[in-house]
Amino acid sequence: MKHLISLNDCTPQEVENLLTLAARLKRETKAGIPHPILAGKTLGMIFTKSSTRTRVSFEVGMYQLGGHALFLSGNDIQLGRGETIYDTANVLSRYLDGIMIRTFDHQDVLDLAKYGSIPIINGLTDYLHPCQVLADLLTVYEHKGKLKGLKAAYVGDGNNMANSLLYGCVKVGMDIAVAAPQGYQPPDEVVANAKETAKQTGCTVTITDDKWEAVKDADVVITDTWVSMGQEEEKAARLKIFSPYQIDSALLATAKPDAIFLHCLPAYRGYEMTEEVIDGPQSVIFDEAENRLHAQKAVLATLLGGVQV
Ligand code: CP
Ligand code: NVA
Repeated sequence: MKHLISLNDCTPQEVENLLTLAARLKRETKAGIPHPILAGKTLGMIFTKSSTRTRVSFEVGMYQLGGHALFLSGNDIQLGRGETIYDTANVLSRYLDGIMIRTFDHQDVLDLAKYGSIPIINGLTDYLHPCQVLADLLTVYEHKGKLKGLKAAYVGDGNNMANSLLYGCVKVGMDIAVAAPQGYQPPDEVVANAKETAKQTGCTVTITDDKWEAVKDADVVITDTWVSMGQEEEKAARLKIFSPYQIDSALLATAKPDAIFLHCLPAYRGYEMTEEVIDGPQSVIFDEAENRLHAQKAVLATLLGGVQV
């Protein structure tokens, strides 16, 4: 593994190794055992969108690994004034040991990897959010004791989270059903790639506009905001389109009785899910948020530290 840009690029074994390492680093952190794997290393963190979890968990993760993280606001670096990705990638590769980037256009992340010579980590684009899904898989594993053979249901917008969940679930052999309105379902190429992997790992991919079909007998029920970063102008239209896709207690009750509820956050109570669901006993959103830290430390240790499981 050289970069983490899409979980579709990883082998099932690489995903499993990252999760195994994440669990180990989490245990060591809780036990107070230091692991300065990245002593002397620096991660650049480019953000052209807002963030709470990604920024804090990457910065804390680098610190806990003995390295340093540098916050680079897209507004302040020359990239925001038109310097090319080519020049930026070449220059930053001379100073840094890795770059985490959160931005709009997925192609920018691919170009950074193409032109630079250091590992690139995708901290969210309009298209994908792989670090979040690694944290989600770790959370499911902790609560269920396994991944293969489980069923995940995602209800809402067929966005970056839906795309990365499709890629992540099939890598670990989890069935995944995505329910989204027509016109807002995940793109064909993501569905085709996920179905291809699912054939190899022995699971299923279902895309539907029926949220009841998706959630039926699910072990994990997931949603995300209906208005992603960059879609603020579409807000009124989106709230209307997605309102039939809210997850409420009646819908959650059709999942397995011990199903867990996930949301990458930030969440908007009363929209994509009711308060009862997100603040109820099946919700594990704060374990999920915490696991960003542990999952990303595994990514950093692997890509920047060369740690092998
Ligand atoms: N889930 C997530 O990526 O959160 P932030 O936008 O706060 O980083
Ligand atoms: N789909 C959301 C995820 C936020 C972490 C967005 O892109 O804004």
